[in-house]
Amino acid sequence: MIEIRKESREDYEEVYNLVKRAFETVEFSDGNEQDLVEALRSSCNFIPELSLVAIQNNKIVVYILFTKIKIGEYEELALAPLAVLPGYQNKGIGKKLIEKGHQIAKQLGYHFVIVLGSKNYYSKSGYVPAIKYGIRAPFEVHNENFMAVKLNDFDKEITGVVEYAKEFGI
Ligand SMILES: CC(C)(COP(=O)(O)OP(=O)(O)OC[C@H]1O[C@@H](n2cnc3c(N)ncnc32)[C@H](O)[C@@H]1OP(=O)(O)O)[C@@H](O)C(=O)NCCC(=O)NCCS
Repeated sequence: MIEIRKESREDYEEVYNLVKRAFETVEFSDGNEQDLVEALRSSCNFIPELSLVAIQNNKIVVYILFTKIKIGEYEELALAPLAVLPGYQNKGIGKKLIEKGHQIAKQLGYHFVIVLGSKNYYSKSGYVPAIKYGIRAPFEVHNENFMAVKLNDFDKEITGVVEYAKEFGI
């Protein structure tokens, strides 16, 4: 049984350790993802409803965070980070958390989520190269690794260069 819920203050330490452990062996990691989470929580771009944990066996096994970014003049979302505890990976839990996050983000009225990551992984959750929507990264990256998913339709053009929260240090 997996319970997915909003992160609470009491979870912070466990989440910190989970994120650290999940990224320890990741090739394209700077090892600071757990600190990025702490910084984003204190920023105005934090949305408590989109900071989610999954609980299994009384343990937090996944953490996912969506924070505000800007695409042109519009406020949209970035997914970062997604961290599954080693030992619980490749069991479909990461995908479940992405789905839950998308559902909440959709209800909150956001149109796009962008993510920087593996095409093979995020395409399973509906992400396509962001350039297909005219959304561009503020740094050099392969088009296939800078992705976006559309959640809600809109009658205006949401295109342009993404402006990340300053906590990302971009
Ligand atoms: C990457 C990660 C979030 C995936 O979550 P997960 O719950 O383990 O993955 P899921 O069970 O939802 O999906 C499994 C599928 O994704 C693939 N996959 C898993 N990790 C992947 C990765 N890093 N790159 C590409 N594909 C990956 C698996 O091969 C599997 O494919 P299949 O469905 O064709 O068999 C998780 O393994 C993790 O936290 N890794 C360490 C931190 C990290 O890399 N975070 C993502 C940063 S962008």
